Amino acid sequence: MADISKVNIALDKKLFDLQIERFHTLNLSSSSWLLCGASGSGKSVTGMSLLHEIVTNVSNARLWICDGKNDDYKFLSELESNMHNADNVRYFGYLDMSIGLDKFYDEVFTKRLTGECESRTFELIILEEWSSVLAMLNADKETVKIAKKMLSQAFSITSQGRAYNVHALFILQKPQMDFLSGFRENLTSILALGRLSPEVAKMCSFNEFKHFNNEESKRAIGYFLNDKNKLHQVRIPHFSPEDFARFKQSIIEGVTR
Ligand SMILES: Nc1ncnc2c1ncn2[C@@H]1O[C@H](COP(=O)(O)OP(=O)(O)OP(=O)(O)O)[C@@H](O)[C@H]1O
Ligand SMILES: [Mg+2]
Repeated sequence: MADISKVNIALDKKLFDLQIERFHTLNLSSSSWLLCGASGSGKSVTGMSLLHEIVTNVSNARLWICDGKNDDYKFLSELESNMHNADNVRYFGYLDMSIGLDKFYDEVFTKRLTGECESRTFELIILEEWSSVLAMLNADKETVKIAKKMLSQAFSITSQGRAYNVHALFILQKPQMDFLSGFRENLTSILALGRLSPEVAKMCSFNEFKHFNNEESKRAIGYFLNDKNKLHQVRIPHFSPEDFARFKQSIIEGVTR
């Protein structure tokens, strides 16, 4: 498999309306990325299609999936229970999210940073429902400590990971100030789906673009801000059950290879 540095992320909406299919791409050599939008806007589905593109196009790309909701990637916990060694599946559901981030930080990021590991193969951590970490900041002392550690690890990965081919994809409904004030500038591409509140549009900096128009936005339609700071209106293709089966197969490969 030849390595490519860009993968398809979403169709151009204007061209799609003219019946021309042209994909916008995510630059994989850029730092880290954000996928946001209201519940049901299609974030998880889009995330899965993106992971499929990565696993099938980038040789030895490895995925680490942390799903605070323990929902869309449940098939991975079923896979774990069918395997002799669950450690072979890089899936961390619900409260294990911090364990997954910790492992990724120590075993991948720190080892490359310190020179202990010379590999530069593509490594990606997916942090689904990242807002659950922000909610942890309001809990008991021990939980707050864990959440602060996670925020600091995320900050380091997003600010220094690119040079080591170590990336993070944050998925959450509504980016809040606490989140974006920490490392918004490290997130080089943002895909936001569905109708966005003025507050979210501002945090994604979409409001700086004259052609940003929230009116038309609904499920699977949104805006993509790429690493060249260009904003495009996009739509996600409609996926069939067969597509979903292919996505799951690729994700299984990505978390076990
Ligand atoms: N591109 C698509 N093709 C086919 N079905 C889709 C697509 N996008 C969304 N759907 C359907 O809409 C449902 C909701 O989408 P999805 O789970 O991705 O939303 P979400 O933004 O992740 O919501 P939440 O924030 O609640 O997790 C999916 O279960 C799927 O049935
Ligand atoms: Mg979801």
